[in-house]
Amino acid sequence: MSEREPDPAKQEEFAGRVVQVLNDACLGFMASVGHRTGLFDTMAGLEPSTSEELARAAGLDERYVREWLGAMVVGGFVAYEPEGRTYRLPPEHAAALTRAAGPDNMAGLMQYLALMGEVEDRIVEVFRKGGGLPYSAYPRFQELTAEESAAGFDLALVDAVVPLVPGLAERLRSGIDAVDIGTGQGHAVNVLASAFPASRFTGVDISPQGIGAAKAEAAVHGLDNTRFVLADSAELTGGYDLVTAFDVIHDLARPDRTLRAVAAVLRPDGVFLMGDIAASSRLEENIGHPLAPALYTFSTFYCMTVSLGEGGAGLGTVWGEQTARRMLAEAGFGSVEVSRIEGDPLNQYYVARLAVAA
Ligand SMILES: C[S@@+](CC[C@H](N)C(=O)[O-])C[C@H]1O[C@@H](n2cnc3c(N)ncnc32)[C@H](O)[C@@H]1O
Repeated sequence: MSEREPDPAKQEEFAGRVVQVLNDACLGFMASVGHRTGLFDTMAGLEPSTSEELARAAGLDERYVREWLGAMVVGGFVAYEPEGRTYRLPPEHAAALTRAAGPDNMAGLMQYLALMGEVEDRIVEVFRKGGGLPYSAYPRFQELTAEESAAGFDLALVDAVVPLVPGLAERLRSGIDAVDIGTGQGHAVNVLASAFPASRFTGVDISPQGIGAAKAEAAVHGLDNTRFVLADSAELTGGYDLVTAFDVIHDLARPDRTLRAVAAVLRPDGVFLMGDIAASSRLEENIGHPLAPALYTFSTFYCMTVSLGEGGAGLGTVWGEQTARRMLAEAGFGSVEVSRIEGDPLNQYYVARLAVAA
């Protein structure tokens, strides 16, 4: 059989897979609705319940809840008992779908599907014309990223990420100057500022919405060792012992200028701690990466596209370790170590210093 002739068995198998993709994509939307309406959280706290009982407990319209349950049952998310018409969220599923699951809650991530759907028309347009989209095209983006990253920061920033840098916790305890670039809603800064009251923390972002939310959170917690500045990270000035950037560099219009600015503001024994997507710069090495299709899609719908929208580099979400290491070296970092933390399949952490490692 020639390469051009379809193999009927393979054809059927692939068509089946595509149907599965359609079903799974639909379940993704429904999981997002389940997260936003609190249905998963409510179900996790209930005995097996009818749709009426669940709708009452969640404060929602029964007809919609019943249709949603239909999708959840046939999709294997929720168990159904036809005799009593009762529905149950198994605890093993609640562990991946509820707010109580913290960073393991995958239902929160499903919200990005609708966010991407909102801009699909404009994405198709830039496929034809080139260019990108402005940040203003994504009104819910700040809120979603903050919600997603906050659970991780609460759980791991102080106890797992800071210890990746030998001696950093002690230095933070005794009092140093730190800046978080692309801080978004500033939760990382506020978590660190509250854990290390002797240190001084700055958060920088170009989003007025993000900076406003960051200041409000700091005020609620009475943190007087934080400040938040509306600024471009490429124009960073001052002197710092620690610079952090979480899930930021690949989004930037001018990542090279920002990395050079980071190197310029670091004090000689300072550290740049960069959390970014754990992936390879080589496409072939990302085949089989458990999140790769999602990463390339997020990139197309947001990360690459906002950078291109500012006439920028358009590195994309999957810029990868090889490119990151090259760019850090070009910016003047003499040593870079890469680590992962347990339970986080998405990110890796680059610990970069100006001095060449001995
Ligand atoms: C994916 S979000 C990450 C936010 C935050 N670090 C977190 O983990 O929740 C990237 C952030 O980079 C910010 N950003 C983009 N370009 C920037 C620039 N040139 N200077 C400073 N911040 C920028 C965006 O506004 C956004 O808040």
